Amino acid sequence: MAAGIESWLEQVAQAPDEATLTQLRVRVLGRKGVLTEALKTIGSLPVAERAQAGLDSNKHRSTFEAALAARQLELQNQAEISLTPIDVTAPGMRPQLGHRHPVSMVLNELTDVFWQMGYQVVDGPEIETEWFNFEALLVDKDHPARDMQDTFYLKGGNLPRTHTSAVQIRYMMEHKDNLPIRIVAPGKVYRNEDEDARHSWSFYQIEGLVVDQGITVGDLKGTLEAMMRGVLGDNTQIRLRSNYFPYTEPSVEMDATCVVCKGTGKVFQHDCHLCTGTGWLELGGAGMVHPRVLQNVGINADKYSGFAFGFGPERIAAIKYNVPDVREFWRPNFKFLEQF
Ligand code: DAH
Repeated sequence: MAAGIESWLEQVAQAPDEATLTQLRVRVLGRKGVLTEALKTIGSLPVAERAQAGLDSNKHRSTFEAALAARQLELQNQAEISLTPIDVTAPGMRPQLGHRHPVSMVLNELTDVFWQMGYQVVDGPEIETEWFNFEALLVDKDHPARDMQDTFYLKGGNLPRTHTSAVQIRYMMEHKDNLPIRIVAPGKVYRNEDEDARHSWSFYQIEGLVVDQGITVGDLKGTLEAMMRGVLGDNTQIRLRSNYFPYTEPSVEMDATCVVCKGTGKVFQHDCHLCTGTGWLELGGAGMVHPRVLQNVGINADKYSGFAFGFGPERIAAIKYNVPDVREFWRPNFKFLEQF
């Protein structure tokens, strides 16, 4: 035993828990423990050695017991530290939850309005051919309207679409034998433009297209009004002003009553800052689909007519949430985004 005591002491010092300590106590000090057995052999030692052997055994016993007690205290202290008290009166920590991006919220509100009116929500490729993006929409190579939409051209002649109007053409070609058509197509578009508070080289649009028999400007106006009331509120009025797009005839620009001055143009006798005193906000283009566009995709323009429109959800979101600079939407700025 004398030689073995070191190894037992080491096991005590490394015991991971109190159960292990109890086992060690039994194996050393128990009825059949190694120290107990050693004591029993003392009687058979030569008389001269007995006294010293007895003293040694007692010393080992007390060293071992002290080691057990010390390790037990250590284990108890550790357990207490891991039970650090919880202050139940401390204010809670709000978990950081994400939410939809403000532009997505507006896009969802818009598509919801159309979904309820029986429209399909459809998609198209972001890389287009010149034909879908321009020619089929009557914007020929030398047409001045090509300058209105500065284009990034890719090697080989394709381009990131400059507007979602290209989706009109794709959808009509696919469904020309399956009329009527009622679709909206939200998506990203790209233009080689300098950025400022109202422009960006990449932004969202939402395109709309209806083709059926007997569609009129009245249908277009009613639809646009329902759409604007859906996102800006039930009291919103709209007006259509004459405009020009190659793919619609007649073409219009749609204005909605200003969300700040409610169409009065005045805020406390001053000109409204948002609509600069006009009472109206320019929100997007629209018109009756040009008969030649219908012919381009193989739809009988004598029998069918349609309307189309294109809006910028960033601009609508900027107006709705009073954001002065559309670039703010796409900066990785959580302080800004968390407000919505
Ligand atoms: N494509 C036009 C633009 O990007 C918006 C537009 C105008 C779409 C008239 C239409 C439309 O469908 O009929 O500025």
